[in-house]
Amino acid sequence: MNRQDKLRVAVLISGSGTNLQAIIDAVAKGDLAIDLVSVLSDNPSAYGLQRAAAAGIATDCIDYAAWPDRAAYDAALNKRLTELNPQLIVLAGYMRIIATTTVNQFAGRMINVHPSLLPAYPGLHTYRRALDANEAFHGTTVHFVIPELDAGPPFLQYRVKIHADETEHSLRERVQAGEHIIYPKGIGWIADGRLELRSNQIWLDTKPLAGPIVIDEVTVN
Ligand code: GAR
Repeated sequence: MNRQDKLRVAVLISGSGTNLQAIIDAVAKGDLAIDLVSVLSDNPSAYGLQRAAAAGIATDCIDYAAWPDRAAYDAALNKRLTELNPQLIVLAGYMRIIATTTVNQFAGRMINVHPSLLPAYPGLHTYRRALDANEAFHGTTVHFVIPELDAGPPFLQYRVKIHADETEHSLRERVQAGEHIIYPKGIGWIADGRLELRSNQIWLDTKPLAGPIVIDEVTVN
């Protein structure tokens, strides 16, 4: 496949970028046919920017602190994304809420990975909250982005059983290992034209998806 034929993908990050790395590695291995056109961050010290640069991917930092207010930052991010016009925007540990105008502009073309089995535990501190509630399972979800936080249609989940001696650290490690499997997989489905969101319905291989496909930790170990 020529570079021109591949889905043009921009990745938004705020921090370490281990999910970005998993995507970069999948592309390098030939498992994921996408064109990574840019890695954007709101945080100039995000380590993920170094990962992108090391892989030869264009980077862009729209430093949140450099703008007088949220509206100015939102406008700058929108301008940059509009210029890039990616076919898919992948939020990979991007820790800011994206303005409604931008979400709507890229409706069906923006996905996120969130560390919980949505609709359980939207928002922050999902590991702590799941442990405090004595949940039997936790996990992570890949979903399309809509203006309401962590509420867009999900299509892929990775589920882990919470162990008796589980800590926030051990749970995060296991869940993130799962993210590194399911996020490149889900992006690949979109890139290969197998999965799309149409009129708020997800279609996979021309069949409507009733709910997210769930991959259990044991099945991939
Ligand atoms: C990921 O685990 C992702 O699920 C989470 O941030 C982490 C970023 O890790 N995202 C959210 O919490 C978004 N609400 P990474 O920078 O190493 O990919």
